[in-house]
Amino acid sequence: MQEPRERLIVALDVPTTAAANKIVAAVDHSAGTYKVGMQLFTAEGPPIVRALVSAQHRVFLDLKYHDIPNTVASAVRSAAALGVHMLTVHASGGGKMLRAAVEAGRETNPALKILAVTVLTSMNDDELNRIGVRGLALDQVLRLAATAINSGCQGIVASAHEATELRRELGHDFLIVTPGVRPAGADIGDQARVATPAEAIAAGATHIVVGRPITGAEDPAFAARAILGELAA
Ligand code: C5P
Repeated sequence: MQEPRERLIVALDVPTTAAANKIVAAVDHSAGTYKVGMQLFTAEGPPIVRALVSAQHRVFLDLKYHDIPNTVASAVRSAAALGVHMLTVHASGGGKMLRAAVEAGRETNPALKILAVTVLTSMNDDELNRIGVRGLALDQVLRLAATAINSGCQGIVASAHEATELRRELGHDFLIVTPGVRPAGADIGDQARVATPAEAIAAGATHIVVGRPITGAEDPAFAARAILGELAA
């Protein structure tokens, strides 16, 4: 876990297998894990996951499952059978759903990490209020994260700011995967709250998810190595 490359997850937010392959060929084993999300999975399906797994890459399947417990458990079994290493579920699915996901993972692949998404970073206090969630977004994050950890989830997807609070409230015995990471001086794009790789780790993240700073770089391999350098420092 200490090796910088083990902490780096590259988000393959691209529309085709060809575009994904180009990034993976460049970055290769500088990243411990590649994230396949809705866009790529919807376009290319399980074969892209199988290809990454058979090339000895770890895959984080970020489809944010949110459904009744039986349906989520079945999807987790299918993902585990594909050989994915990490996947996401929505913590707001509740304890029963989360426990069903964890149990299905344990049965199919005990090494599978089930990560819970709490409040989407696109939601703020006002928007949460409008869908009936009173109070602060951060309190909702902490509530949902506690539910996820108590239900057996192996980790939480959280911003660097949330990571600090999660470590304070819930301890150190779970993974925190942090997106919205930008190397010092990089373009922040549409991310509102960003942290550098070193800041994210200092805040308590075990892993960082980096998309465009690597996938959009002229030289993705160089960009990935620079981030590894920042993590090592
Ligand atoms: O390109 P960029 O580094 O912003 O990509 C970040 C990745 O992390 C994207 O795949 C995005 O969907 C994901 N993500 C995020 N914020 C969250 C959860 C996931 O940016 N709260």
